[in-house]
Amino acid sequence: MANKFMTWIDDRFPATKLWNEHIAEYYAPKNFNFWYFFGSLALLVLVNQLLTGIWLTMFYKPSAAEAFASVEYIMRDVEWGWLIRYMHSTGASAFFIVVYMHMFRALLYGSYQKPRELIWIFGCLIFLALMAEAFMGYVLPWGNMSYWGAQVIISLFGAIPVVGEGITTWIKGDFIIADATLNRFFALHVVAIPFALVGLVIAHIMALHHVGSNNPDGVEIKAKKDEKGIPLDGIPFHPYYTVKDIFGTAVFLILFAAVIFFAPTFGGYFIEPPNFTPADPLATPEHIAPVWYYTPYYAILRAVTVDFIISAKLWGVILFASSVLILFFLPWLDRSPVRSIRYKGWIFKGMLTAFVVAFLLLGYLGTQPPGGWRTLASQIGTFVYFAFFLGMPFYSKLDKTKPVPERVTE
Ligand code: HEM
Repeated sequence: MANKFMTWIDDRFPATKLWNEHIAEYYAPKNFNFWYFFGSLALLVLVNQLLTGIWLTMFYKPSAAEAFASVEYIMRDVEWGWLIRYMHSTGASAFFIVVYMHMFRALLYGSYQKPRELIWIFGCLIFLALMAEAFMGYVLPWGNMSYWGAQVIISLFGAIPVVGEGITTWIKGDFIIADATLNRFFALHVVAIPFALVGLVIAHIMALHHVGSNNPDGVEIKAKKDEKGIPLDGIPFHPYYTVKDIFGTAVFLILFAAVIFFAPTFGGYFIEPPNFTPADPLATPEHIAPVWYYTPYYAILRAVTVDFIISAKLWGVILFASSVLILFFLPWLDRSPVRSIRYKGWIFKGMLTAFVVAFLLLGYLGTQPPGGWRTLASQIGTFVYFAFFLGMPFYSKLDKTKPVPERVTE
């Protein structure tokens, strides 16, 4: 019966073909390690955000007059509403933790290098979309930090010469952040960007399955195949990695649930205290800081403090935009003959370590008020951040690499 049913389906829709191509007969390198859990976890978190988002939308009211109260209603009166809301707000932070780990893996193993440039570029577009998605989502509860965060970020466009002010009014849909702003952010957060994200994730995985996964050794497994054309160092994704990913998912869900149940605001890092009071255009929060996942970039934005030819604010905006856009060029900045850090030399290892330290330092500084040593530290952090990328064409060529084995080593 089951076979007959599948044949009926397969005659009309390539179900078995898709399953085989992408799962049962997708040969992945046999040496995936800890860092390879984060792609499937990113998918899991994406699904969590989409599902919990749909349920939140059933009760949330996208109007300046009602938004804050509708979120309180979800938290107090809607059955299990608090759980759905905390799954979504914690999910936003989890998304960035997972995606930052996922991107770091690519840096470790050179996964962006030829022929995987497009996997990386789709990834960068996902990262941009994710930043926009989280920013607009944060505005929706219409808390005081929603309001003032939006105020700070939208006003950045005002630094653009000539057209800046016009652009900020166009984004807001009003002369101040108001109902019109909330309405359009709702439309973008709930419909437009999720569509874009899902489309980009599909493209990301199609590109991945077209060229095949990289691995911790950076060895191209397709170069050595058996007589049936199966890579010698490959194992079928199912059952090997489906089972392994279930393990990763279980560990992740334990941690995720622990945060949701015991520390849903994570000490003000996942939901900031001012967001428990309604938006008030007359009361600026004492210290405006974005949510933790933006803080490295926020510190870069604030690093320039003197006007030099153009205003310090415009320098900040330029550096901020460049710090994200430079990621797209990574495949062409890295000129190393090897992919994995295992076979790269000490210069790359040193630069990557400096980059990670700078990124974490900037992340911390972005949560603090500027001034004094903190401004100098952000300037140094910003310098190291850019030096990692802009110096790469030179140091990746100079670096002494080790010979790469022909087959994976584990
Ligand atoms: C919604 C967000 C994302 C999802 C759902 C996602 C999903 C995946 C999945 C399932 C894989 C294969 C499993 C793995 O290698 O871990 C993968 C691989 C990869 N992803 Fe992503 N990804 C996301 C974001 C990103 C971002 C932001 C980047 C970089 C800017 C990125 C870069 C890569 C690269 C380079 C690979 C190939 C890794 C290798 O073969 O070594 N991804 N992604």
